Amino acid sequence: MTKRIEDFTIKENNRLNNDFFILELAGNNYFPSLKPGQFAQVKVEGSPETFLRRPLSIHDVDYERNTIKLLIQISGKGTEKLSNIRKGDILNLIYPLGNSFSLPAENSKILLIGGGCGVAPLMFLGKYLKSKGYKPEILLGFRNSDRIIEYDEYAGIGPVYLTTEDGSKGEKGFVTDHTVLKERHFDHICCCGPDSMMKAVAAYCFKNDITCEVSLEHLMACGFGVCLCCIADTVKGNLCTCIDGPVFNTKELKW
Ligand SMILES: Cc1cc2nc3c(=O)[nH]c(=O)nc-3n(C[C@H](O)[C@H](O)[C@H](O)COP(=O)(O)OP(=O)(O)OC[C@H]3O[C@@H](n4cnc5c(N)ncnc54)[C@H](O)[C@@H]3O)c2cc1C
Ligand code: FES
Repeated sequence: MTKRIEDFTIKENNRLNNDFFILELAGNNYFPSLKPGQFAQVKVEGSPETFLRRPLSIHDVDYERNTIKLLIQISGKGTEKLSNIRKGDILNLIYPLGNSFSLPAENSKILLIGGGCGVAPLMFLGKYLKSKGYKPEILLGFRNSDRIIEYDEYAGIGPVYLTTEDGSKGEKGFVTDHTVLKERHFDHICCCGPDSMMKAVAAYCFKNDITCEVSLEHLMACGFGVCLCCIADTVKGNLCTCIDGPVFNTKELKW
């Protein structure tokens, strides 16, 4: 798919809590068809420390309004700078980048699992699957109740199951501790979050013969296959997370 470098106008910067905010961006041109799992390389103006663009998943798309959303966790200088962006400011994106989650077989029981900023690509994915007639369910994990974001929006897609590490909301523990994984069988699980979480989900899927796709958040510089800094070790050899991924079937990964 052709990559574009385009300016977007900020329509809204919505702060969700101390850590997370959502940018709504209006395109000046009509979008190509975007796929869930794809990401953009976002330019952060202002200092040599933020010279490299930052990879951010497409969180949501509205083709009628010609807007996309990015859900961002403040984790360093670049995301901190982006958190201060205002309505009317311009943001430059290279997009759409990377592959996407695959469409499961018809009538598959699908669970989307997200933790922390890994919930970002699952909104677009959940809405996309629903528009194709699937009935995805969603399992979200957060450190505590203060960090829960967009619960109602995910609940608009399908049933939502929740864990917090301190038990302040939902079931106590990690996503892999949730009873839904003990009591139900899913055919297809899509997961994004910290590596440790994705590895635990992959191990659960392997044991229970479930297809598992994960979206890897490797460090990236270029985002389109030139710098080779985002390599993933797979059964097919070293692959670039930015062009061969970020979504991988866990059977391909040498974890
Ligand atoms: C394909 C992809 C999609 C992503 N989607 C999202 C998203 O939708 N929302 C979101 O909040 N974050 C997302 N990330 C992670 C995000 O890119 C990093 O958090 C961001 O680049 C950090 O930039 P910074 O300047 O704020 O932090 P820095 O000052 O550069 O670093 C702060 C911390 O973040 C780590 N970090 C830096 N770059 C990355 C990276 N590429 N991936 C993981 N950790 C990194 C550093 O090791 C350091 O610990 C995604 C990453 C990838 C590869
Ligand atoms: S980020 Fe440069 S090759 Fe993947």
